[in-house]
Amino acid sequence: MDVEIYQERDDLIIDEMLSVFVGAIKTTQSTTTNLICYMDMNPHIKEKLLGEIRPPLEEVKDDILGELKFETVSEFDYLQKVIYETLRIEPALKLPAGSCMAQDCVLNGVKVKKETILFVNFWNIHRDPRQWREPTKFEPERFNTQSEWYKTPDGKPRHPLAWCPFLGGKRICVGKTFAEVVLRYVVPILYHHFDFELANPEHRINKPPVNFNSTASSVIPVKLTVRNPVVF
Ligand code: HEM
Repeated sequence: MDVEIYQERDDLIIDEMLSVFVGAIKTTQSTTTNLICYMDMNPHIKEKLLGEIRPPLEEVKDDILGELKFETVSEFDYLQKVIYETLRIEPALKLPAGSCMAQDCVLNGVKVKKETILFVNFWNIHRDPRQWREPTKFEPERFNTQSEWYKTPDGKPRHPLAWCPFLGGKRICVGKTFAEVVLRYVVPILYHHFDFELANPEHRINKPPVNFNSTASSVIPVKLTVRNPVVF
């Protein structure tokens, strides 16, 4: 730990730890909520996803948490595409904290003065029509290297940072790998035990945004059907 920054002050260390917990929980929670909503809004995608993730879990019905192996969740390729597309269409963070330049510079032809605060707008980057075909459509095939959806609308490779829900460079999320593994477990376990249906049909057409900054007004009610009771 950098003693220069923390100066052995407990309040700063506690503050930092709280940021890690909140940053970890609200992001994965909103991604899971959004994924469940987009599945209900896109039944053909949900059917394909459930076809991949449910059968292997039926074999380990009694003790999912104990028996579900990393090797099994690692093979859920379509789930990964669905998670990535969920993070594209509704990034868990709409905006990261501001960044400022240490010196005057020119970014892509734009002069930026030293200490000007800049924000990376994930939402707009993820819906840039120069990078994404039909950007408002939920389409996991965008992450299938063999698909036409993998390319820009004019058939070129996408910019490497066209998809950046975890930011990039030195400021990239330190929990990225962990978050991706957690989602690979959480989504199949939830769909093994339950089925979800949006309780308000209006939300299928007009889904309230859910992200790190969401408040109680973004709560999306669902009808829950129990498939396999949770046994503790
Ligand atoms: C879907 C899940 C997640 C998303 C989309 C996400 C996204 C991000 C983004 C965009 C940043 C950069 C924020 C900024 O610079 O303003 C960030 C930073 C960070 N994330 Fe995540 N995150 C996720 C999950 C997690 C998890 C699970 C953890 C911890 C276990 C975590 C810990 C952190 C920490 C500590 C930082 C600050 C890193 C730094 O300042 O160098 N995140 N995350």
